[in-house]
Amino acid sequence: MSDQPRDPRTEVHRVAQPGAARVASYLAQPDEVSRVLLLYSGGLDTSVMLKWIQDEYDAEVVALTVNLGQPGEDYEVVKGKALQLGALDCHVVDAREEFAREYIAPAIKANADYGDGYPLFTALGRPLIAKLAVEYARRTGCDTIAHGCTGKGNDQVRIEATVATLAPELKVIAPVRSWQMGRDEEIAYARQHGIPVKGGTESAPYSIDDNLWGRSSEGKWIEDLSHAPDDDVFQLVTRPEVAPDEPEVLELTFEAGLPVALNGERMELVALIEAVAELGMRHGVGIVDHIEDRIVGLKVRDIYEVPAAAIILKAHRELERLTGTIHQNQFKPALDQKWAYLVYAGLWWEPLREDLQAYIDHVNRRVDGTIGIKLFKGSARVVTRESPNAVYDPQLATFSESGGLFSQNASPGFIELWSLQSALAHRMRARDSG
Ligand code: ARG
Repeated sequence: MSDQPRDPRTEVHRVAQPGAARVASYLAQPDEVSRVLLLYSGGLDTSVMLKWIQDEYDAEVVALTVNLGQPGEDYEVVKGKALQLGALDCHVVDAREEFAREYIAPAIKANADYGDGYPLFTALGRPLIAKLAVEYARRTGCDTIAHGCTGKGNDQVRIEATVATLAPELKVIAPVRSWQMGRDEEIAYARQHGIPVKGGTESAPYSIDDNLWGRSSEGKWIEDLSHAPDDDVFQLVTRPEVAPDEPEVLELTFEAGLPVALNGERMELVALIEAVAELGMRHGVGIVDHIEDRIVGLKVRDIYEVPAAAIILKAHRELERLTGTIHQNQFKPALDQKWAYLVYAGLWWEPLREDLQAYIDHVNRRVDGTIGIKLFKGSARVVTRESPNAVYDPQLATFSESGGLFSQNASPGFIELWSLQSALAHRMRARDSG
């Protein structure tokens, strides 16, 4: 870093210096960049990048925008903006179906949760986005993929690990990580180059990421751990205190571990997730105020709104417990946790993830049935369960006469053998301590 005062007009001319040591073989040197596939969201960072890459690298840019079900996005506007900023083309890919089927579905079967509250929506989306970037880069003759991640987050890990794994021939640039423009400098650059900046520019907004499976907010007061959430952060979920006074019960039906119907009506996964989210949002369900251990060493606070995941994962977990034995139920959470950690940590393509998946799928073959969940002012509580595969026999479990199927007289004999080693060990210790 120089000691010169920052001037946006010179500050931004910061292509990686030719000849500088490269810290990873997949990072592009300036002379290797001639056509770039840019992962484009239409926001400030990637819009500045679109222009900056053309100017600084003297390269062509093909934009790619991926629809993973982020609410309220107008893709025509995003595309128009990319073309106006000089992109050769802007491909908009509707990947909602694939996202639900190939990424969210396995996550449901794995009860995917990181750090007790984060259902991994961003972590699940990034490997798909990066895989599409690789496909479109190859298809459109690009040599380099550019993304807008900073150097402090997990998303750079997920995207670059995917590119390095799937496409060793492609290079990567991450301008936001290297150009050292602050927000004010980016806005100045945008102004200078006719890049429209939407919203107010006075203060930095929350940093948002969202898709079908949830929404995260970071930045602003969220970085102050002692600051309780301001109401304006909640853009999906109704605050529980103003949610309806009447509870609502929904029924989710699962087949082989995946939800297939809501209140008896069969739906495709994307539509079902959206419909469940709708109900959860209305009743204030799925707010998570989370402290997270990032891969890159930092501990960070996130505010999550995950109405669909909060309900669907709860129902799935319940049904899985009902259809599994005590041994399966004790074993699987450890594998689920490993699965979630690999995904969180950007290792979607790691073979161990698939190995775990095989076990998880096998267990889920029998996870069929219907779970009723009551939603009320922020809570989602299981109230009914029904499964043809429940490892449950009301005849056996009942407190009334069980008709000879379960011999209560046998229990004392079991207890004596069950506690035998503990009793012996206890006796030895008592002997030794005099
Ligand atoms: N903390 C979450 C994660 O690491 C959410 C990240 C949101 N990403 C973002 N670029 N704002 O997956």
